[in-house]
Amino acid sequence: MPDDVPGGFLTLGDLESAARARLADDVWAYVQGGAAEETTLRDNRAAFHRRTLRPRVLAGVDRVDLRRPILGRPASAPVFLAPTAYQGLVDPEAELATARAAQEGGVPAVFSTLSTRPLEEIAAASGPGDRWFQLYLQPDFERSVELVSRAEVAGYRALVLTVDMPLLANRDRQIRGGVAVDTPVPVGNGSDVVSPARAPVLEGGVYRWRAEAGATWEVLDRLRSHTDLPIVVKGILTGDDARRAAEHGASAVVVSNHGGRQLDGAPAALDALPEVVAAVGPRLEVYLDGGVRRGSDIAMALALGATAVGVGRPVLWALAAGGRAGVARLISLLKLDLATVLALAGRPSIAAIDGSLLGAARG
Ligand SMILES: Cc1cc2nc3c(=O)[nH]c(=O)nc-3n(C[C@H](O)[C@H](O)[C@H](O)COP(=O)(O)O)c2cc1C
Repeated sequence: MPDDVPGGFLTLGDLESAARARLADDVWAYVQGGAAEETTLRDNRAAFHRRTLRPRVLAGVDRVDLRRPILGRPASAPVFLAPTAYQGLVDPEAELATARAAQEGGVPAVFSTLSTRPLEEIAAASGPGDRWFQLYLQPDFERSVELVSRAEVAGYRALVLTVDMPLLANRDRQIRGGVAVDTPVPVGNGSDVVSPARAPVLEGGVYRWRAEAGATWEVLDRLRSHTDLPIVVKGILTGDDARRAAEHGASAVVVSNHGGRQLDGAPAALDALPEVVAAVGPRLEVYLDGGVRRGSDIAMALALGATAVGVGRPVLWALAAGGRAGVARLISLLKLDLATVLALAGRPSIAAIDGSLLGAARG
């Protein structure tokens, strides 16, 4: 463990506890909260607990190779850092720390439209590392195009279009805990979309969110005509929508319920994964995020057909716990845990993972 990481972080749960101790109550509510009764948030984790792994023994596991290409580029493990807004709320170095740690760890990192630092600064910090730009559609399409062009110029390798937030959900915990409306949250990219951390205000019966609630699939074609970057559609939970994403030129989809922060009642990401894989795999790469905390979770998602998995809240915990060194620790913990699980399960490489790794569901 790096000397400059405080505490003995053996698991992501340790990072979570350290973050809890350091963050103010309102920021904690923003980070941890889900929508409504948080049923989907809880189920994201529970879905992993419902499944079992089916190990093989004497499989020659003295070396375990975690490498796996993601979107045509080499990665040191089938893992990416999912986008989270306002990393500056939890660490002063914010997205720059995340970018540096991801580059060192050899995994892609996705940066939000609502990053604290401008996307160009993040790109400079990430150097040769793989960075993807997450787009929230702006009320004016030309502003979306501007953001995409800036990302392309700055060397982002993919455009991640988040489609599960036509409006802000009823995030009861966050609203009650209230990152105060007057908390100054700098938005590095000059997004026109109102910050979900700052302004979760009920207006006319819906939570205000100045994105394009009227957007339809045609927006993918419009974006496609403005960029050569591969488009990853984030927030898909059904085979039908995955097929539509494919028809409209997406290169990959992220099976995600936004970490249980949007539609409460939506299925756990892991439970939605098989339907999506059946619909578009292997034509499109299928990623998953939501509740991934252990090597065994990664193994299960890959066994169900995911190419890679993302972590959201753990990045914020790691940043709060130890800045750049904290995020580096997060990445190394996930890799170490995955390597251990694969060795114990008798699968010495990512390529050796398939459906036979899954056992019966727990009763
Ligand atoms: C505090 C917070 C902020 C987030 N901000 C964004 C965002 O700006 N854009 C986006 O596409 N997803 C955002 N997400 C969703 C994550 O990208 C990801 O889907 C989710 O956190 C995965 O679940 P996990 O937190 O259980 O790992 C956010 C999630 C959290 C917890």
